[in-house]
Amino acid sequence: MKLYADTADLNDLETLAAWGVLSGVTTNPTLLSKVEGEEGEIYRRVCELVDGPVSAEVVAEARGEMVSEGRRLAAIHPNIVIKLPMGAESLAATNTLAHEGIRVNMTLCFTAPQAMLSASAGAAFVSPFLGRFDDIGQNGLTTLAEIVEAFAMSDYETEVLAASIRHPIHVVEAARMGADIATIPPKVFYQMLQHPLTASGTAQFTADHEARQAKKATEVSQ
Ligand code: E4P
Repeated sequence: MKLYADTADLNDLETLAAWGVLSGVTTNPTLLSKVEGEEGEIYRRVCELVDGPVSAEVVAEARGEMVSEGRRLAAIHPNIVIKLPMGAESLAATNTLAHEGIRVNMTLCFTAPQAMLSASAGAAFVSPFLGRFDDIGQNGLTTLAEIVEAFAMSDYETEVLAASIRHPIHVVEAARMGADIATIPPKVFYQMLQHPLTASGTAQFTADHEARQAKKATEVSQ
């Protein structure tokens, strides 16, 4: 499963890109609102930092305007993918953009039928959300599993992009269910990195190495 970063924060992207673990990036208007600067310039910088699909979300609500905004965003960089919120206008816009060779990521998918409509309209990615199901006391992993299973038995080329990830267990479960991609907030990447036994083991190795060096130095000086 490929790992994307779910952020527009350039400092976090620089850090995570240096780890060599990123295959792409997703953004949304909320994430973008947390970053200073002109929108086009932010997307350009993200594309420079990460070599892979970078989702940029449209804010227009009617299909014609969605298509125009999508074309404008796609012209920023060849790696830009147009993110559209699930709905009838977005399905129509997806179909137009896909025929022009512009990739679409259908976001805010909460059911398998929504994902199937998106794939049939030509979306390159569908984004089932996990955490927002948790927020209302439901299990998003069930829907993710349904979508992965339905797509595996169809001839869709659409990739399943698990989104709204809130903790490392979501990432592991998405992989176990066969999602193609998980888009992960920086905070969760940093949580994935850590384990107390890794920290204590590293400290122990360092202490033992230093003790050996100190012993050698004492022996030489005698
Ligand atoms: C999807 O691509 C969205 O950017 C994102 O995963 C939303 O996550 P949230 O529910 O934590 O806002």
